[in-house]
Amino acid sequence: MTRIVYVNGRYLPHRSAAVHVEDRGYQFADGVYEVIAVERGRLVDAGPHLTRLARSLKELSIAQPMSDAALRHVMGEVVRRNRVRRGILYLQVTRGVAPRSHAFPDGATPSLVVMARSIPPADPATAERGCDVITVPDIRWKRCDIKTVSLLPNVLAKQQAKDAGAFEALQVDAEGFVTEGSAANAWIISQAGVLVTRPADHAILDGVTRRSVMALAAEAGIEVEERPFTVAEAKAAAEAFLTGTTALVMPVVRIDGTPVGGGTPGPFSLRLLADYTARAADGGGAL
Ligand code: PDD
Repeated sequence: MTRIVYVNGRYLPHRSAAVHVEDRGYQFADGVYEVIAVERGRLVDAGPHLTRLARSLKELSIAQPMSDAALRHVMGEVVRRNRVRRGILYLQVTRGVAPRSHAFPDGATPSLVVMARSIPPADPATAERGCDVITVPDIRWKRCDIKTVSLLPNVLAKQQAKDAGAFEALQVDAEGFVTEGSAANAWIISQAGVLVTRPADHAILDGVTRRSVMALAAEAGIEVEERPFTVAEAKAAAEAFLTGTTALVMPVVRIDGTPVGGGTPGPFSLRLLADYTARAADGGGAL
């Protein structure tokens, strides 16, 4: 089956889907994106993703490429045309094509690309094993709340993790507090059973999964505290985990080689993973 990609008003075969060499996304990383899970052919939490997309665009003064209703239509079409039952939808908006010059061009039309691909169901054994993470200095800019395609520090962090045989890199700010992973939010459960995650300030992306897990924790009667935590605190925690559209709820069992909570995924992490998976499969927040 030919994969189909939406590019600026056209549904094109994947091999010929392209944007112009002077697209500002290509030259300046002047654009934003969203990654949305597809479960049973439906987008999970499309609403919050579109709300965050609108916010990212507004923060960068990039015009909305189309109304939310039209965007939902295009996203649905891309999922349908690629026959994705379970997978990932990627949507990117850039400031558009213009002769290279740093300041905003006059009258550029935003570029919109939407693609989707199937991915196999998550192997339960992966979460049951948990993952290793390393820690790296957070070298990103001061507006990580904007979901920009400017991801080079995240790319380097993830590669460092891969080279070390780890799944993720926890980025650490100048004060020694964990900000987030390269593509996921970071959480710990204290020895007192309190769920701790950094407040959604400018230092992290306010994950859609993060919000869902917060709501699920409240439903499960787990106390949630939004405050920064240090690497030392995370190593001494009862449990640690990551959340994100692709990571789901991923238990962390070692940080820089130090076992967390005995080196196996803890009950809170596994409970939240089960609740989150059930909610997504159930069409929780679906399009
Ligand atoms: N990344 N923090 C960062 C830096 C991220 O890139 C992501 C998601 C998250 C989690 O956000 P959400 O729960 O809304 O997926 C946190 C996507 C999956 C990516 O870049 O592929």
